[in-house]
Amino acid sequence: MVNYPLKIKNIANKANKSGDKTMIRLSYASTTTHDWTSEELLALLTKCQTNIAANNITGILLYAQETFFQVLECEETVVNKVYELIEKDKRHKDCTIIEVAKINERGFPYWSMGFEKIDTSNLHNIRGLNDFLAKDFTPSGFASHKNIVAPLLAHLRGRLIKQVSTSHEELPMTHDDPFLQLLNRTIRMGVKFMALLMVLVILFGIVDIVFILYEELSQPPVFQLTINELLETFGAFMAVLIAIEIFLNITLYIRSDVIPVKLVVATALMAISRKIIVLDYKDVDAQYVTASALVVVALGITYWRVQKHD
Ligand SMILES: Cc1cc2nc3c(=O)[nH]c(=O)nc-3n(C[C@H](O)[C@H](O)[C@H](O)COP(=O)(O)O)c2cc1C
Repeated sequence: MVNYPLKIKNIANKANKSGDKTMIRLSYASTTTHDWTSEELLALLTKCQTNIAANNITGILLYAQETFFQVLECEETVVNKVYELIEKDKRHKDCTIIEVAKINERGFPYWSMGFEKIDTSNLHNIRGLNDFLAKDFTPSGFASHKNIVAPLLAHLRGRLIKQVSTSHEELPMTHDDPFLQLLNRTIRMGVKFMALLMVLVILFGIVDIVFILYEELSQPPVFQLTINELLETFGAFMAVLIAIEIFLNITLYIRSDVIPVKLVVATALMAISRKIIVLDYKDVDAQYVTASALVVVALGITYWRVQKHD
């Protein structure tokens, strides 16, 4: 278990006792007396991450051109106390609060403290940032260009989210254990083979649609579809669409940037919807309809929650 420093632990305890749960985001900028080396920055980040994890604070710390810019997100009391500590740190000066805003949800939920040593060449494509980076990447510059903060944070947030999602890898190709690596590679081959088979199933499904349409249109009355024939055709279409979804599901296992939950839920929704679309209510009992409705609602809520989380 991590032994958190007493000082920081106390902050969290006091804040919890005070019962104030208002969440805020505080951003500030400061300057250093010298250009920090990578080792110094890493040591600071490790300290931030250990201390901050104890308080459930999240945020981001940026460093460029002897200037720090940090965002702290948590309950107001915790953020204020931690900021007081940081402000007293002799390793930087001119701490200037840029923004304090009430928030409903965190902008940087995944990192106890994300960190970027900014390579300014990466940021030039953000509108309005060019001049700011050249002349005003200082505490007073931040204070007088508050409009730059939102796009800068949005950009950094996007980059960090990408880092988090690409760090997820289903069936990784490299593994510390050579046996597990061999197993993963073998399963990947199997997945590729299944994907190939699925393409064949999709092609057969399309041929089947053409065949069903031909049969139904050629029977008397020629070029007319009854309701039942229409439903049968829709069913064939939906089956192919579901096969395509399953193909996407399969291929997700060999990609590293997507967590497949959303697509699995979407496929399940499509599959149950397909059944519902072709239901003939004369032939099914109330229990079946109720159970199907419950599944649709449950899957719908799950999909909505996963989508919102994205
Ligand atoms: C730019 C800058 C940002 C910092 N950010 C944090 C922070 O987010 N969380 C934290 O605990 N300490 C942060 N620190 C360090 C604190 O100022 C202080 O050194 C630390 O909280 C003391 O922890 P300790 O009592 O465990 O040594 C920061 C320091 C600097 C210079």
